[in-house]
Amino acid sequence: MNASRVVLGVSGGIAAYKACELLRRFSESGHEVTVVPTAAALHFVGEATWAALSGRPAATETWERVHEVPHVRIGQQADLVVVAPATADLLAKAAHGLADDLLTNTLLTARCPVVFAPAMHTEMWEHPATQENVAMLRRRGAIVIEPAVGRLTGVDTGKGRLPDPGEIFAVCRRVLVRGALEQDLAGRHVVVSAGGTREPLDPVRFLGNRSSGKQGYALAATAVARGARVTLVAANTALPDPAGADVVRVGTAMQLREAVLKAAEDADVVVMAAAVADFRPAEYATGKIKKVDGVEPAPVALVRNPDVLAEVSAERAHDGQLVVGFAAETDDVLAHGRAKLARKGCDLLVVNEVGDGKAFGQETNSAVLLGADGSEVHIADSPKEVLADAVWDQVVVRLPAADPEGGR
Ligand code: CTP
Repeated sequence: MNASRVVLGVSGGIAAYKACELLRRFSESGHEVTVVPTAAALHFVGEATWAALSGRPAATETWERVHEVPHVRIGQQADLVVVAPATADLLAKAAHGLADDLLTNTLLTARCPVVFAPAMHTEMWEHPATQENVAMLRRRGAIVIEPAVGRLTGVDTGKGRLPDPGEIFAVCRRVLVRGALEQDLAGRHVVVSAGGTREPLDPVRFLGNRSSGKQGYALAATAVARGARVTLVAANTALPDPAGADVVRVGTAMQLREAVLKAAEDADVVVMAAAVADFRPAEYATGKIKKVDGVEPAPVALVRNPDVLAEVSAERAHDGQLVVGFAAETDDVLAHGRAKLARKGCDLLVVNEVGDGKAFGQETNSAVLLGADGSEVHIADSPKEVLADAVWDQVVVRLPAADPEGGR
């Protein structure tokens, strides 16, 4: 990614202190950052901090250096505007085109991608006024990252927390790489499953697999950057939540099935990247299974788990819903992939070659994307994010036209 001109808008919420970390990440990766705090934001973090961290004066006032026309220039010259935190008030002003300070003027003059990272109390986030403002901004192509769930100011917890600055930075980095015209998943709800299920034998043991969840997380993060609303059903992963995705944590195949089917009800796309156990122990021992000297261990009887991908494919929640599966194969990759695509009934199958250190837990992946329409796209060994974007490219061309009102 080349160095870019980034405007960091900061509005008046306690999470303003976390924007310092976001600023540091931009500066350290060579971007030229102009910080535009609102007057309220300066109550939380002062001008000196922004100036010191960005190496430039913070732009706070429309009436300073008027000959430079800052209310127009800053927005015009930006490659990316990110507002973090974005308060309910700032979102309302941005949605309705108010321009009573430098940041709101900048938002009106910017023609580059705009990312909002809201942070507020749950009640304010869930209020229909805020939700309608967010929907309006998204319809216009802005990326509004869903807030995280967790501790809020004071004793409250709930949805409304500013996502981890590293994850906001990751979204911005992807948006900078892909540009403004690529919000091709805006208004879409996508469901991604990731990780590997664990099927318990007793309170301390399980049958599991080696999936790290990295490919599924890359799919979730890239979908956020392309404007989608993302539900990530994560099975036993140790990765940070991608900013903007609703993360539902599950353990077993049965829990994953329930979470995926529920999220799929209003989804445009379901991507099954999780490694779901095909079998689970027929019996769960409520106490730890003990070894007994001189006694052979009892064999473990297994029963089949439901095939979630086949089920989602066969019982689409609505016409036009797209379903993507993954296949991990060790040999005869294409033949097995085609057979599996037909068997599962999905629209696309991402076929990975695994084994000998390939794919599992690695940073790169090579794959073939097989379409039910006979298409075949080969992706050479590339970072998991690149493969994820290639999958979304294939999805986007197959999606039915979006409803201009933003719903289906
Ligand atoms: N999958 C699923 N439910 C299962 C097993 C797998 O939804 N119980 C999904 C995975 O998420 C993946 C796809 O099915 O998208 C392929 O899984 P894979 O294990 O490769 O396929 P299998 O049907 O198990 O085929 P095989 O036994 O040949 O490996």
